[in-house]
Amino acid sequence: MLLTVKYAPKKLADMLGNADRLEHIRQWMLHWLSGKKRKPLLIYGPPGTGKTSIAYALKSEYDLDLVEMNASELRNRARVDRILGASASAGSLFGRAKLILIDDADVLAGRTDSGGGNAIKNFLSESPCPAIVTATDIWDKSFSGIRSECEIVDFKRINKLSVRKHLERIAESESLDVSAETLEAIATRAEGDLRAALNDLQAMGPTARVHDKDIFEMVRGIFKAETYAAAREAISGEIDYDLIKLWMDENIPAEYETAADIAAAYDSLSKADIFDGRIRKTNWQLMKYSIDLATAGVALAKARPYHKFTKYSFPAYLKNMSRTVERRAILKTIGLKIGARVHGNRRDALAYLPLLKEFGKKHAHELMAFYDFSEDELAFILETSVSRVKAGA
Ligand SMILES: Nc1ncnc2c1ncn2[C@@H]1O[C@H](COP(=O)(O)OP(=O)(O)O)[C@@H](O)[C@H]1O
Ligand SMILES: [Mg+2]
Repeated sequence: MLLTVKYAPKKLADMLGNADRLEHIRQWMLHWLSGKKRKPLLIYGPPGTGKTSIAYALKSEYDLDLVEMNASELRNRARVDRILGASASAGSLFGRAKLILIDDADVLAGRTDSGGGNAIKNFLSESPCPAIVTATDIWDKSFSGIRSECEIVDFKRINKLSVRKHLERIAESESLDVSAETLEAIATRAEGDLRAALNDLQAMGPTARVHDKDIFEMVRGIFKAETYAAAREAISGEIDYDLIKLWMDENIPAEYETAADIAAAYDSLSKADIFDGRIRKTNWQLMKYSIDLATAGVALAKARPYHKFTKYSFPAYLKNMSRTVERRAILKTIGLKIGARVHGNRRDALAYLPLLKEFGKKHAHELMAFYDFSEDELAFILETSVSRVKAGA
């Protein structure tokens, strides 16, 4: 399970940082619950500081009916009326009080959907229920309408000491054998972003639990498997499945030699990724299909067995811990550029990365031109240095 989900704050007291703001928001909620109307709240600040979490914490602490709305729903009059119907207002005698959440409104009101901002503003100006709007950046002109309807609360980055202590507590309760230096390094790199910190800790977790030697054996077992059953048997113990995916991803080109085998293997792995993104969050039982795609699917991608010794390598992702922050930023722009070309969303687009890497090894210039990648982005995709890209090597 994702640590960010498992350790999501359940009440306001579980939340780190921004103590005065949290208290202010509690008072705002209590006002509503005692029947006094207040302006909607616009909470803005850097990612991973708890903007979305606080809405959920209020929901569970005060037993509210939390309704998330996006711009297109807000434009739909009938839907808005239904949601805000007779029993809608806070403190109503009928059912639970509602709290409306318009999450990441700066994205919703973005350039691609210029009507979105107006729909949100209009809704806020007449909302009979408490509403929370979140955003990272609110100073764009197009956002001034929303700003004027709200009381603005700024969330600051969480300080490093709090982040580190939080990581220590979680490492302890998850029995992760992670050194104090590593926790300190993760806390530093997170730059006040708790989501990033927990995700980095999660990436470290499996290595802390499973010996490298065992993982190498598993990876070998999966690659060499010639039947579905053999591939599934290769996985044993308390191995984290996301880690297996990273290892397969890293080592497919080392194990497989023909282009067809490599493409088929990556195809299966990409399907597992997409499957995971869409399904795992909601239905854990379906996870076994995605495990199959990442293991047996990759094993059976080969046309015939390779009877050779392969030296498998450690996933680059884990080696590059020090670069995770830059990585995230660059992954975002790469995902957007691919998404624009393949008409998919950013997350799904990233499933193409392994294929692009293979293609780009021989056709770097075509790749750059087609997706409009910068040299940095190309270097990232090819997992090489910018200087090598510049030299055309
Ligand atoms: N202030 C906080 N206190 C405790 N955990 C937090 C806090 N902010 C973020 N987190 C952790 O990070 C995850 C993502 O936080 P989220 O509220 O979605 O961030 P934001 O909306 O500000 O980008 C949460 O599920 C939680 O695990
Ligand atoms: Mg959020």
